[in-house]
Amino acid sequence: MPPQPESQHVPVLFEETLRLLAPQPGEIWVDCTLGGAGHAAGIVERLGTSGRLIGCDQDSTMLGRAKQRLLGFPVTYVHANFEQLGDVLANLGLPTVDGILADLGFASDQMDDPQRGLSFREDGPLDMRLDLANGQTAADLVNRLSEQALADIFYEYGEERKSRWVAKRIIERRKEKPFEKTSELAELVRRCVPRSGHIDPATRVFQALRIAVNDELGALDRLLASLPSCVRSGGRVGIISFHSLEDRRVKLAFQRETWTPKTKKPATASDAEIQRNPRSRSAKLRVAKRV
Ligand SMILES: C[S@@+](CC[C@H](N)C(=O)[O-])C[C@H]1O[C@@H](n2cnc3c(N)ncnc32)[C@H](O)[C@@H]1O
Repeated sequence: MPPQPESQHVPVLFEETLRLLAPQPGEIWVDCTLGGAGHAAGIVERLGTSGRLIGCDQDSTMLGRAKQRLLGFPVTYVHANFEQLGDVLANLGLPTVDGILADLGFASDQMDDPQRGLSFREDGPLDMRLDLANGQTAADLVNRLSEQALADIFYEYGEERKSRWVAKRIIERRKEKPFEKTSELAELVRRCVPRSGHIDPATRVFQALRIAVNDELGALDRLLASLPSCVRSGGRVGIISFHSLEDRRVKLAFQRETWTPKTKKPATASDAEIQRNPRSRSAKLRVAKRV
């Protein structure tokens, strides 16, 4: 975990998250998606010196950034995918914890770094992995998957109506030269998908590929399945999601008999927050208490 400059990420729904989760002095919490430690900074302040935070992220660069912000607080850093939460806690000798937060997706620092290949605004390698130590890159998927598999990804994870057409054009183009750069894919998509409003036509295809590369929905399903055995009775869990495929899963999981939902409707950002931080526009926070 090399030291990194402090994160530029602005946490979403910060006040609501801390109010609903209500971490108490001396408790043990897990932030499964430590990111730039914006939420974590609020949690560790409330836990005090007798409490402890387990800060987990699948991107070791983000752990390095978080460390800058959390210096002096009792934090254990873990480089892991949150789908392994049960193993992480077992390795630390913790049967259960008092609370867990997961703020899904990516941090601004990751999106803003062209070398990560998450954005089409600046050119970079077509990578998109949040964990640089593991898994296939977006270029691997785009250059190897069948036309049908690509179309399914664009349709299911991006709701891209031109999914079949984009997939067909990708197959034709990659016969000439494999895709390597974000700009190559973005330009092809822009030629296939008409612009509507001010949203770049490549947005949905990039989102879909990111979800597929990082198996984001699979990891969320495995996290949701492991939560009941990771949290003590009376413990709290909060999940912030950014699109309906995620929110639906969280909503259904919190309807099971193990949980009492603390948010009947998810908490969303105020107009003022959306103005300050446009990324908060699609954020939905659901909180539940372990029965
Ligand atoms: C939205 S950011 C979290 C921001 C953080 N709450 C803050 O206030 O700074 C999401 C972070 O979760 C990490 N992440 C995403 N999916 C993950 C997973 N399956 N396991 C572990 N970390 C994950 C990303 O690498 C990123 O750093």
